[in-house]
Amino acid sequence: MATTTTEVPGPAGLPLLGSMFDLKNDSLGTFLRSQREHGDVIRITAGPPGMRGVVYGVFSAEGAQQVLATESANFRKDNHFYQEVRESFGNGLLTSQDEDYLRQRRLVQPLFTRRRVDSYAEAIAAEVATVLGPWRTAEDSTVDVLDEMTTLALRAVARILFGTDVEAAVEIVERAFPVMGDYVLRRGYSPRNLPRHWPTPGNRRAAAAHEELYAVCDRIIAERRAAGGDAGGQDLLTLLAEAESTEDGSFDASELREQVLVFLLAGHETTATSLGFALHLLALHPEQQKRAHEEVDRVLAGRTPGAADLEALPYLTQVLKEAMRLFPAAPVVGRRAVAATEIGGHTIPAGADVIVAPWVTHRHPAYWEEPDRFDPERFTPEAEAGRPRYAWFPFGGGPRACIGQHFSMLESVIALAMILQAHELAAIDTEVPVSAAITLQAAGRARVRLRPHTA
Ligand code: HEM
Repeated sequence: MATTTTEVPGPAGLPLLGSMFDLKNDSLGTFLRSQREHGDVIRITAGPPGMRGVVYGVFSAEGAQQVLATESANFRKDNHFYQEVRESFGNGLLTSQDEDYLRQRRLVQPLFTRRRVDSYAEAIAAEVATVLGPWRTAEDSTVDVLDEMTTLALRAVARILFGTDVEAAVEIVERAFPVMGDYVLRRGYSPRNLPRHWPTPGNRRAAAAHEELYAVCDRIIAERRAAGGDAGGQDLLTLLAEAESTEDGSFDASELREQVLVFLLAGHETTATSLGFALHLLALHPEQQKRAHEEVDRVLAGRTPGAADLEALPYLTQVLKEAMRLFPAAPVVGRRAVAATEIGGHTIPAGADVIVAPWVTHRHPAYWEEPDRFDPERFTPEAEAGRPRYAWFPFGGGPRACIGQHFSMLESVIALAMILQAHELAAIDTEVPVSAAITLQAAGRARVRLRPHTA
């Protein structure tokens, strides 16, 4: 975090420690309150004098657009938090910059064109069917939709991007990712940290999780190599492996593993969270669920959905967008300002740690009436046209926007449609508390009771 003083307003926090505990205990609530009390550009300090970190929050849609898009060259992924992510997860597409980044993005882009992603629909539907299989005999007809969607999203990414079945890795990934996320979060919000190699319990736990995840990536790579050829079209591993052997690609073994890790990180929990919360919100709102069922029954009439159905299921897309407004899987996105920048009448100094926050902007009263209410009607084309572009930005924006956006939307609509074709949902847990790690984490269960649905 940068150390500086300007007149940007913000919470005073404790005399000696600033907002350190608030950020550690509830970063999302702290940012939200800061916007309500101090406005769209705020400054938060954390840590004792001499070691004090400073972070600037930018919460208006226009400000988010400036940081992520129009002035993106001035806002780099060099902030404290991204450095921690990079140290834990390596220099893959999410974290890399400059030449490394351009080379990596050029290489993987062909896998994410709309046409290419549409061709994954059948494989996605097959994975959904596999995950839904046991739902018919679930104990007490009860499932935790966040857990189930985590399994689904992991299987989908593994099958499509890595051409492998990760059944054996699911348990390790689901256990080790939260440990790493937590570790990155704690270090990300501490102005000073002990060196990672010191044998503290926290460091040791993180190192073990790190090792397990890297071993999973190595296994995925080895299995894919042993299988040979290409598992039905060029997947990510084939592309990366080809680049590895060409001169200008020059991917070495550790880079290959880091790409796999980043796609596991960026590609599964995020979609799982969006989809899990969409299901849970429908389970809490019978009227909206009924409308979703009607759309699915009318459009699909019992057949398996494909990519071509996406446009014919606009209400499901609206439900997903509204779920992502309330529960954005990447609730906070950080950068570091290279040069001093004017935002919303305030000066952000050179070197400052800056965050934009879908969590806050998605609840901003200037763009959203009754922001806490679930209402998919906010995403009709007319309603969307009436809002600034960055009032809703769960996938980020500008040159570093999410490469997996269409992949995720396709997977989510197919999964929602297939679930609604067979089931009616009623929420058992009425509230699911959340916290922010690298991605949004549910701190409780999201159980729903299933009843068979007939069209
Ligand atoms: C609902 C689901 C998802 C959400 C909310 C989401 C969110 C985001 C956000 C906010 C960023 C930008 C981060 C920044 O600017 O610092 C991002 C980047 C990225 N996402 Fe996603 N993501 C989702 C799904 C996926 C999927 C399915 C994949 C892969 C299959 C993926 C892969 C990536 C990658 C590789 C980047 C870095 C792109 C770049 O810098 O060029 N994401 N994502």
